[in-house]
Amino acid sequence: MKNLKDLVRPNIWDLKPYSSARDEFHGEASVFLDANENPYYEPYNRYPDPMQRELKNRISALKDIAPEYIFTGNGSDEAIDLVIRAFCEPGIDNIVTITPSYGMYEVAANTNHVTCVKVELASGFKLNAQAILDAVDSHTKVIFLCSPNNPTGNLLNREEIYRILKYFGGIVVVDEAYIDFASSLSLTRGLVGFPNLVVLQTLSKAWGAAGIRLGMAFASPGIIAVLNKIKYPYNVSRLTQEYALDVLSREEGMKNKLSEILNERSLVETALHELPFVKQIYPSDANFILVRVEDANATYDYLVKQGIIVRNRNTIALCEGCIRITIGTPEENNALLKALNTMTL
Ligand SMILES: Cc1ncc(COP(=O)(O)O)c(C=O)c1O
Repeated sequence: MKNLKDLVRPNIWDLKPYSSARDEFHGEASVFLDANENPYYEPYNRYPDPMQRELKNRISALKDIAPEYIFTGNGSDEAIDLVIRAFCEPGIDNIVTITPSYGMYEVAANTNHVTCVKVELASGFKLNAQAILDAVDSHTKVIFLCSPNNPTGNLLNREEIYRILKYFGGIVVVDEAYIDFASSLSLTRGLVGFPNLVVLQTLSKAWGAAGIRLGMAFASPGIIAVLNKIKYPYNVSRLTQEYALDVLSREEGMKNKLSEILNERSLVETALHELPFVKQIYPSDANFILVRVEDANATYDYLVKQGIIVRNRNTIALCEGCIRITIGTPEENNALLKALNTMTL
């Protein structure tokens, strides 16, 4: 990896961040007249901890990662945007990502006037490290990978990811939004060996808390410090910090629900195999399945009429004819299967 200083945009490196009242005083006090808050309506009259220390300590204990390696934000979407803003000079730099994949890498890049170069996955939606490295030029600052990948559902080959980490001098983001559903361990184990690695995770999927917006980025303390410098001062609300602490104290319950979802996934897969218009079911390491059907648009429209919404991926490169089905409760999955069984186009 190049020096962090040479990768970060010069204006960001030199930036003096906003210092909030809650940044400047730590410790015990009984009278807080420093932040122009309303003295009434405790506790939500008070600004939250800008650095989310208690929450990071909980995440640290749970994942065995030191707090200085952890960033928390308003969903992983915030971290995606911040990484692009920190490293990519608008109008000059680019990111490289895989396609098909999660659409926000491209949207966040374009929002920041940064080009997004998309490299098609190989057959079987496999990652080809060489194809990614070949797409890199002198203005590529960040490579975005997603494993398990959305919408294909598969884990990317770890050796190929390591090759990219080894031979690319910039930042490599591996989005692990769905890692808890997968059989493989998180790449966070590799953080110490790869100073250019950023791993994204979220409470939105396996932890069942998409509504509170809590995403995590794990990276070297230098990268985390850069993200903290450019985030909004109070990027995670007090309500979210409190609820996240509560969610993270229920790991056992999360794991039980997770195995129910995985069990349902295999029941849904088996049932889908029986349907004549289902052409292909892609193997999934996530809580959704990508399914190729005879007519994706007609299937989608029919399901909408039945009050069942799936994701039509028909217009996405390499996903022609595909719909993406999220695994729901047994009742929801049965409703889907019942509707599909009686479908006449
Ligand atoms: C791969 C991937 N990354 C990130 C996200 C968004 O995560 P968050 O809710 O933490 O912003 C999603 C949501 O669907 C996703 O599929």
